[in-house]
Amino acid sequence: MMEKRGNFGTELGMILATAGGAVGLGNVWRFPYMTGENGGAAFILVYICCVLMLGIPCMLSEFIIGRHGASNTYRAYSLLSGGNAWKYVGLLGVATGFLIMGYYAVVSGWCLQYVYASFFGEITGNADFVNHYFAEFSSDPWRPVIWTLAILVITCLVIVNGVRSGIERTSKMLMPTLFILLLVIVVASCLLPGGERGMEFLFKPDFTKLDSDAFLGALGQSFYSLSIAMGCICTYASYFKRQTNLLKSALQVSLLDTLIAVLAGLMIFPAAFSVGVNPGSGPSLVFVTLPNVFNQAFAAVPLVGMLVSVFFYALLSLAAITSLMSLHEVSTAFLIEELHITRRTAATFVTAGSLFIGIFCSLSFSDIPWLSFGGRTLFDWFDFVTGQIFLPVGGFLTCLFIGWAVPRKLVRDEFTNWGTVSCRVFGVYLFFVRYVCPTAILAVFLHQLGVF
Ligand code: PFF
Repeated sequence: MMEKRGNFGTELGMILATAGGAVGLGNVWRFPYMTGENGGAAFILVYICCVLMLGIPCMLSEFIIGRHGASNTYRAYSLLSGGNAWKYVGLLGVATGFLIMGYYAVVSGWCLQYVYASFFGEITGNADFVNHYFAEFSSDPWRPVIWTLAILVITCLVIVNGVRSGIERTSKMLMPTLFILLLVIVVASCLLPGGERGMEFLFKPDFTKLDSDAFLGALGQSFYSLSIAMGCICTYASYFKRQTNLLKSALQVSLLDTLIAVLAGLMIFPAAFSVGVNPGSGPSLVFVTLPNVFNQAFAAVPLVGMLVSVFFYALLSLAAITSLMSLHEVSTAFLIEELHITRRTAATFVTAGSLFIGIFCSLSFSDIPWLSFGGRTLFDWFDFVTGQIFLPVGGFLTCLFIGWAVPRKLVRDEFTNWGTVSCRVFGVYLFFVRYVCPTAILAVFLHQLGVF
């Protein structure tokens, strides 16, 4: 028996759920760092151009495919293509979402552990201690796995409740909470003595730093941050209503995602600069540098330091959970509709599968020889293959699909809600999807592979 398909009940719930899927760990550590390294405000301008010219057209394309299909990503591509080979691009989206979820859950589990550790004062100590704490925790065979399990079970419980009472209701609670936590930490960080140097680092435009790496970096980041080509956007769009204005929704989601990324920079850099620490990137920034920064910056008032730290990791956990929900739903919807099983069974399978991947990704941080090969750990392999190969390939093919394979009238009808909303920019959209986006994605792909 096929389950009845759900949809988002309110416009606000739909925007918050979709933005929740997009806002994640990438906004908090990756965007601020890239901005600081690549010319501050100059990079933010380039990033915004990438979002407007490339991210939004790609997001719109996924909205069109998802809402038209009103089904999981694989079936949505299949319906739009009349069942020909394009459906495998949809399948690639489902696979990408599923593979990402396993390793994303590991890092999300670390965030939960750090909420606990901050609360109980386990990461108050000098720089060496904090460094050692992270190395020891991440390579422990048990503790990270338990946190991975915890965060996957939480995600599963939300997903089992369906689109409206699970995803939408949870996003409506978590996203405003995330925003408030973010604002509280931004204020605390900017008020620190010397914090203005951090703001300068983030916002002072330095156009001399804008080289080709910065442009390509901005493009890659805009795709990652908006969760393009992972099946998430397409799956959520399948729950949109027919009267949803797709262009307006894409603009709102992108605006929220970018705003949160910029605010994350305002949270991190003033605190880091106030204690004279130059923040590094990646896991070390979030799990080693920042605990140190909080310890030092709020040394005079340890209670405030503890609260800021708890808030920060709670914020990260919320961002991670809403992204995990969107990833989980991609595979869950796929299993429900392709295997004709209940949501509960599908969600249980997906959780078990991601846990399986997560366990091995987590264990690859311990010294288990067969979990590292070709110069990377298993965790890094998942990150590399999904982020740097599947993502650009899926994005590229989606643009070609919508731009060249799907009948123009059909795309226009979805874009304009069958002629009921303005279509003045439709021509511009189509031009970008046909020519600009595929070229730009190809450039990033080849650059990442070291071709130029
Ligand atoms: N967009 C998320 C972020 O910025 O952290 C990351 C992400 C979420 C990537 C979901 C992929 C995904 F499917």
